[in-house]
Amino acid sequence: MKKVMLDCDPGHDDAIAIMLACASSELEILGITTVAGNQTGEKTFTNALKILTLIGEDLPVARGFDKPLFQELVTAPEIHGETGLDGADFPAPSVKPCEAHAVNFIVETLLSADDPVYLVPTGPLTNIAGALLLAPGVKEKIKRIVLMGGGVLESNKTPAAEFNIYVDPEAAKIVFESGIPITMVGLDATNKALFSLEDIEALSRLSGKVSTVAARLLTFYAEQLEKFSGVRGAYLHDPLTVAAVIDPAVLDTRFLHVDIETKGEFTRGATVVDLYGVTGKKPNAEVSFGLDLSKFKGLVFDAIKRLDERWA
Ligand code: RIB
Ligand code: CA
Repeated sequence: MKKVMLDCDPGHDDAIAIMLACASSELEILGITTVAGNQTGEKTFTNALKILTLIGEDLPVARGFDKPLFQELVTAPEIHGETGLDGADFPAPSVKPCEAHAVNFIVETLLSADDPVYLVPTGPLTNIAGALLLAPGVKEKIKRIVLMGGGVLESNKTPAAEFNIYVDPEAAKIVFESGIPITMVGLDATNKALFSLEDIEALSRLSGKVSTVAARLLTFYAEQLEKFSGVRGAYLHDPLTVAAVIDPAVLDTRFLHVDIETKGEFTRGATVVDLYGVTGKKPNAEVSFGLDLSKFKGLVFDAIKRLDERWA
């Protein structure tokens, strides 16, 4: 089994990513950390506890930064609602949270792990950068960072940037310059990881405890996406990131150099991908361009069916 830590900002697609990770027999999840992004730090933390309670998973959850390293926090209530998980009701959280700050929890968990660990951030990279700043030696215990963020030709927060990188570009720069193996699961792939309205309907018809909530979440998320970007369906950005750890063959990638723009008036948060090697800089990330959509959808449906069976 692959040892994994999730760092997330639930968030509708983060919620499905947590479900996929918890249901996978390929992954041993050492813990979950949360960060401000889609919603405030308090709300994303509470949401992680709610999701784990719903699926009956008792994992350590540690709360992280409430704002980016230097920038003011930007959230996404227009997509994820005031709670960050609008559209579905959750049981009151019964999972006992960690007292430690996420950065300390990440460092301590990595240092005590027997084998190197996959870090799977699906929100702004503030906690990950914090851990690398606090204890640079943890790099030896990180197998790979498989992160949702960025884009080559695609963006969604500004014409130049994807949300997670835009929120904390300085943190992203620290991560991409760390020398740690990185897989960048960016919008060029995740915007193709679209759950159609028919897929959401199929999820709803499973009528289980978890599938019903997942379908309601995705229905709300799809409604907001249609309002704001005209798309019909739900982009499963974060679940594709987890799927890329479960089965790397689900993703098409190229090994390229990526720089993070932190100073541009119009380009803050851009992932500047050297497609043709013109900079002469060594590649530092496996950059995603596409996916095996049917394999991906199968992983998501199978995972949610397994979680339903926990309550059957
Ligand atoms: O740009 C998409 C990313 O931003 C996803 O991780 C979504 O959850 C938000 O965090
Ligand atoms: Ca996210």
